This record gives sequence, structure tokens and C-alpha cells, in this order.
Amino acid sequence: METVLSGIRSTGNLHLGNYFGAVKNFIKMQEENNCYFFIADYHSLTTYPTPEDLHNSVKSVLAEYLAMGLDPEKSAIYVQSDVPEIPELYLLLNMNAYVGELERTTSFKDKVRTQPNNVNAGLLTYPVLMAADILIHKSHKVPVGKDQEQNLEMARKFAKRFNHMYKVDYFPEPQPYNFGEDLVKVPGLDGTGKMGKTAGNGIFLVDDDKSIRKKVMRAVTDSGPTEPNSPVSEPIQNLFTIMSLVSAPDTVNFFKEKYANCEIRYGDMKKQLAEDIINFVAPIREKILDIKNNNEYLRKVAEQGAEKARASASQTLKDVRKIIGFRKF
Ligand code: TYM
Repeated sequence: METVLSGIRSTGNLHLGNYFGAVKNFIKMQEENNCYFFIADYHSLTTYPTPEDLHNSVKSVLAEYLAMGLDPEKSAIYVQSDVPEIPELYLLLNMNAYVGELERTTSFKDKVRTQPNNVNAGLLTYPVLMAADILIHKSHKVPVGKDQEQNLEMARKFAKRFNHMYKVDYFPEPQPYNFGEDLVKVPGLDGTGKMGKTAGNGIFLVDDDKSIRKKVMRAVTDSGPTEPNSPVSEPIQNLFTIMSLVSAPDTVNFFKEKYANCEIRYGDMKKQLAEDIINFVAPIREKILDIKNNNEYLRKVAEQGAEKARASASQTLKDVRKIIGFRKF
């Protein structure tokens, strides 16, 4: 049986990007593999949450994992900071990660550009911590969206480097778990780029109907097609992409035809899209809110998950320490 690991950073609630990029296939994965689902709370520290926000976000993601139908009996569902073996492996992997290659990753270069006053070392070594998350369970597969492709490639590189350096065949090279489909990039509502957590760009699985309508109605559009079959601009393509995820194929085709004939009214398209998103999100939201109120259950799940994760992690770390050469006198 293969080992599968899935991680989500605890910086707020899950959005449709997380859902369609990774979470959608959780149940299937859980049935077919030895699965680890965790909440990356150390990773969230690069953005300096307050202590309350840190705790609340971890709680939300845990409730969201469970609302997706994850079963704590079948999988290990845990919080990264409950597993001290992860930061230890991170330390060891850091010795074989080169500053040059870390500086060249797209996500790091983005941060240097967007927040030049806070280029902290945690951002630079973010992919190393992620590799530690993955390698600590000797994972074979990791479900990721397109945005995490490069980080996963780094994890492969570090696994290979370790094996090569110590002449062992210890770490598997983790591959994307993509169910035979291309990796997905769910676009945001602000016209360009991926759906994320910035205000107005993403729809969260806990959003209420009113805020979904508001966000969709405010989504960026263009001035409309001027001649039949004119090319579709990025903001409009993004709306079509989201629509193809939540609406019936007939609905998507209907608006595509309207676009092609220059008869499209973006207001109508957005109204339809908002209703289809609401239909999709509402039942998930109810489950999340239910579970989030059950603190006792969440505590039990996290404890049970940490125990399972540590059993596997401590074995890996023991092996790794031995391979590296740490020995008792
Ligand atoms: P995070 O928390 O940003 O996203 C969690 C998962 O959702 C996917 N995703 C998307 N997929 C498609 N379109 C989008 N717009 C979109 N936004 C997010 C991500 O690809 C990811 O699969 N660094 C990771 C968390 C992490 C991790 C790990 C993941 C830490 N350690 C180890 C896997 C393995 C992150 O920030 O993902």
C-alpha cells in the first residue's frame, strides 16, 4: 500500500482552490492508501498570525478536513507542531539544501518582490520544511495543485540527494497524486492569478450565501465581446473555469454560446455562477460549522492523529539518524 501525505497551511479557511486542487479526492485516497493529512501550522508563521488567529485557523482546517469525510480511524489527521520529529528532520535536510536553489524557487522570488521588507529565513527554507513533512513518513504521493508543483520537485531533489549522499535507497521520491488528470489551478475572482486567501479573490467553504453573492458580483470582468467568436480575456476565462467546476455542463455551454454570439450579460452569468457556488458550498459549510463547535471531538482527533503520526515519524528519524552516523558511545 502506498503512503500518501496531504498538507494544508493554516492561514484561514479552505477555499475552492484548495478543494478542487487537493481536497476533492481525499475520500478516495483514504480508502486506497495509507494516508496522512496534516495542518501546516509552522508554515503559517511566515505571515505572523496572532496567537488567537493561529489557534483558530488550525481548528478551522481540522474541522474542514473532518467535514470532507476524513475518518480518524482510517487516516492520521494531525497538526504539524504536534510532531517534533518534523522540525528535527527539517534541520537535517537544511544542511543539504543550497541557498542558491532555494532563492531560485518561484514562490520565494514572488515573496522577495511582494514583501521586500520581510524576506525571512523561514520563507527561504519553506520548501525544506515541506520536504521534511513529506519525507518524515517516506510518502510516495502528495496531492497538490499546480501551485505546489515546484515545492514537490524540491522534495524529490532533497530525497534523491540524501539517498545519493549516504549511498542508501531510503527515501522514495514523492510524486504528485493527480488521479491521472493534469494538476489544477483554480483561478481567483480578481481577474488574474490563482485563487488564494486575499480579500475578494477567493470563495471559502464557510462563506455564507450573502458573501458568496457579493464576491461573485464584484468579480473582475471586461467590457464584453465586440465581435462574434472574439478571444476570451483572462478574467472572463477565469469565471468560465470556476463555472466549469461548480455548474452543470449545459450552463457553461449556454454562457459560452452567449459569449460567442456577443449576447452575453456578465451580470446574468455572475448571478448563475453565485447560485451554483452556493449550492455547492452550503452543505459543506453546514458540516464544517457543526464540527467546529465540537471542541472535545477535535481534541480527540488531534491527539489520536499526533500519536499515529509520531509513530511513523519517530521510526524515520531513528533510521535517518543512524544513516547519518549519530551513535551512542
Ligand atoms: P496551501 O495551504 O496553500 O494549499 C493546500 C492545497 O491546496 C492546493 N491549492 C490549489 N490548487 C489549485 N488551485 C488553487 N488556486 C489552489 N490553492 C491551493 C495546493 O496546491 C495544496 O495542495 N505549502 C503548502 C502546505 C504544505 C504542504 C506540505 C502540502 C506544507 N507542507 C507538504 C503538501 C505537502 C501550502 O501552502 O498549501
